[in-house]
Amino acid sequence: MSSAISSLKMMYNMERLATALYKAQTRAFHEKEMLNRLTAAAANEQQHVDNLNSRIKDLGGSSSRVGFLFQTAGAIFGFLVTFAGKVFVLRTDIWIEKRAIRDYGSYMQNVQFDEDTVGLLQRIVADEERHVATWQDSIARIKSSTDKS
Ligand SMILES: [Fe+2]
Ligand SMILES: [Fe+2]
Repeated sequence: MSSAISSLKMMYNMERLATALYKAQTRAFHEKEMLNRLTAAAANEQQHVDNLNSRIKDLGGSSSRVGFLFQTAGAIFGFLVTFAGKVFVLRTDIWIEKRAIRDYGSYMQNVQFDEDTVGLLQRIVADEERHVATWQDSIARIKSSTDKS
């Protein structure tokens, strides 16, 4: 298996974790805007899962066989972290997104990908950067609403 395909499988697994994480975190929030943001992020992570999976297939690879393990880990972690409060949840999300951006960057530096794959990875990184900005904005919203009350 080429290292491009095995790297894409690892990214695919992490994206499955992220999808399950955001789905599980919706239980921590009741405000409509926050639920919308989490639902949109989960759908966006699912697109990353699907796009990486089809890229793996296009390159002649097979689907990762351990994706469900990462999905389960994301669901459990996403559920547990909600007990620590909203701001903590969002800070964790920012940490995970930044970590993902860093990982994508180092894969792109160290692995020889074809042009189409690089384009896909760059679009994914742009989405992850948007997620960081969304959670930073969400923390600011939560803090300003608790200051007022
Ligand atoms: Fe993602
Ligand atoms: Fe993300």
